[in-house]
Amino acid sequence: MTFTITVEPSGRTFTAEDSEPILVAGIRQGIGLPYGCKDGACGSCKCKLVSGTVTHGHHQPKALSAEEEASGYMLTCCGVAHSDVVLESRQVTEVGAFPIKKMPVRVASMERASHDVIVLRLQLPASDAFQYRAGQYVEFLLRDGDRRSYSMANAPHTQATAPSIELHLRHMPGGKFTDHVFGPMKEKDILRIEGPYGSFFLREDSDKPMVFLASGTGFAPIKAVIEHMQHKGITRPATLYWGGRRPADLYQSAWIEARLAEMPNLRYVPVVSHAEAEDAWTGRTGFVHLAVLEDFPDLSGYEVYACGAPIVVESAQRDYVARAGLLEENFFADSFTSAIDKLD
Ligand SMILES: Cc1cc2nc3c(=O)[nH]c(=O)nc-3n(C[C@H](O)[C@H](O)[C@H](O)COP(=O)(O)OP(=O)(O)OC[C@H]3O[C@@H](n4cnc5c(N)ncnc54)[C@H](O)[C@@H]3O)c2cc1C
Ligand code: FES
Repeated sequence: MTFTITVEPSGRTFTAEDSEPILVAGIRQGIGLPYGCKDGACGSCKCKLVSGTVTHGHHQPKALSAEEEASGYMLTCCGVAHSDVVLESRQVTEVGAFPIKKMPVRVASMERASHDVIVLRLQLPASDAFQYRAGQYVEFLLRDGDRRSYSMANAPHTQATAPSIELHLRHMPGGKFTDHVFGPMKEKDILRIEGPYGSFFLREDSDKPMVFLASGTGFAPIKAVIEHMQHKGITRPATLYWGGRRPADLYQSAWIEARLAEMPNLRYVPVVSHAEAEDAWTGRTGFVHLAVLEDFPDLSGYEVYACGAPIVVESAQRDYVARAGLLEENFFADSFTSAIDKLD
């Protein structure tokens, strides 16, 4: 059976089969609902169920707790409609999404940026331009059918000179894909990707000042956003907080310093949580999401863009809304969930 899904307050509608998650149906029909992992682990797709009947497939309680479900919240990535449904999502985008394509890619270069980060450049097919928004991600299609997500670190306009994407991969020891990347993978290897995906991108119709919050390789999509802002001449004030355990984890500080010299609207606050004496670190210390709260006790007039470790993204969303008055609809995030976040 097919049901009608209405998204309030925009009033946009699409149809969903009774066998498909509402998010999948929305993506298929170019409706830009918010999402991240597409797998019930991150909570990015959580929204209010205004009316109708929805059942949920497997998901993590931290993405949607039983209490939240009882009080009328749902996850679109694993929620299936059993009637016409009205849901409330203030982050739905008005413009249709770019086409999602499967592509073979060639490993053009692999550069060690720190002890556990590789900057990977992938050459794309020249015949078919790849369109995406700064901040979005692609999925690698692994041989066994699994998928792994990585965010583009270069802005879309760079495709005009060289059809390639830059990704920042952190090694997760024991991880299926990153063990391969940090092990046998070499330049010229061919991989398969699909994309673009994701609802994490700059809302260009807003003029609110912004806080960018990155932890670890969460810097990658924010780098793309900054590059895009510079290209488009967007001068909204933006403060980037980048957190790592040690200073070396902030592996592209030199790139940021160069942007600071060119973009008077950009500020940068590096934050280190576990500095050692040998680091001779004189900058901010502690948890990066808390550094933002110290500097911005009132976030009610801001947009926050957060990416990286799930614990940082979750803590930021919770604390900025509860303690600093950030409007929920002004928090945009990609939580870098992995297999470990999907374990019960
Ligand atoms: C939207 C999105 C964007 C992302 N962007 C980026 C990015 O730009 N850069 C980046 O570095 N990452 C990013 N990620 C994370 C990335 O997709 C992968 O999840 C991550 O790289 C780990 O992949 P893997 O295959 O190496 O590890 P996985 O196989 O997923 O394993 C992850 C960890 O869990 C452990 N583990 C796995 N199974 C078990 C088990 N049964 N019991 C105990 N431990 C277990 C592994 O040992 C490993 O340490 C993103 C994620 C999302 C959802
Ligand atoms: S929980 Fe639905 S997109 Fe992550």
